[in-house]
Amino acid sequence: MALAKVLVADKIHEDGLKLLQEFAEVEVATGLKPEELVERVGDKNVIVVRSATKVTNDVVAAGKQLKIIARAGVGLDNIDVEAAKCRNIKVINAPEAPAVAVAELVFAYMLTFARHILRADSGTKQGKWEKKELMGTELRDKTLGIVGTGHIGQKVGYMGAAFKMNLLFHDIVQNEELAKRTGGKYVDLKTLLQESDYITLHVPLLPETKHIVGNAELKLMKPTAVLINTSRGAIVDEKALIEVLQDKKIGGACLDVYENEPLRESPLFDLPNVILTPHIGASTVEAQREAAIIIAKKIKDTLK
Ligand code: MLT
Repeated sequence: MALAKVLVADKIHEDGLKLLQEFAEVEVATGLKPEELVERVGDKNVIVVRSATKVTNDVVAAGKQLKIIARAGVGLDNIDVEAAKCRNIKVINAPEAPAVAVAELVFAYMLTFARHILRADSGTKQGKWEKKELMGTELRDKTLGIVGTGHIGQKVGYMGAAFKMNLLFHDIVQNEELAKRTGGKYVDLKTLLQESDYITLHVPLLPETKHIVGNAELKLMKPTAVLINTSRGAIVDEKALIEVLQDKKIGGACLDVYENEPLRESPLFDLPNVILTPHIGASTVEAQREAAIIIAKKIKDTLK
């Protein structure tokens, strides 16, 4: 039987690539322009992407032999899933791979915020000794609200329990084991927003989740509460968030994702109460290796 033809259109970890090469004819071509991608996909059975490559309706239509669109990561918002469905092409991803990486970033944010690490670092390097000004707070006994309890939200929950935080969850599907093992409870979004000290978002970007945190929701938050977004920028109404941050209506925000990426300029840059990173949630060696290996295995199983 002829080997399946796989196009790897974004860089993936070499261990995943090696696995793919064991059962498929693999072509690696990254950084392709949309028209080049349309050309290359014609004879391929599988296309593997991360977030840079957009698998549009045109790409799907050009992939006459396509059986699988594989996302080495979580979000499917760079793939026209509906177009794939109409042509019976399977869309697969590896949502389990970056769970630890993203959850650890959430804790890095909370600890950085609570202990004023950024100011402490820059002040100390400038020869200031701001010991008195840098009184922090502990995560222990603070309330952590987790919106979305899939792979990542669950990991954040278990880590929160280890930090002895009180946990509130919100999701359309309730995970009773998570609630039981962490002592947390599921509540409606309004309660979560009103009662949490830290609110972290872990839902996919869908029409139903766009701007689920808007002006009205932000106004429900405690004046000291911190909003953390490592999911997708458009889950939050960024304009409304900037306004509440400028007016100091909430404690702060830690953002890894934005409505428009890459973020080259923004009023967020001038705000002292925010921590910004460039969509690095899944950017650990371990998460990327795992994503590549998981996706290679899933491709193999799906092709069977
Ligand atoms: C993901 O969805 O896998 C992460 O957000 C990483 C990314 O898209 O770059």
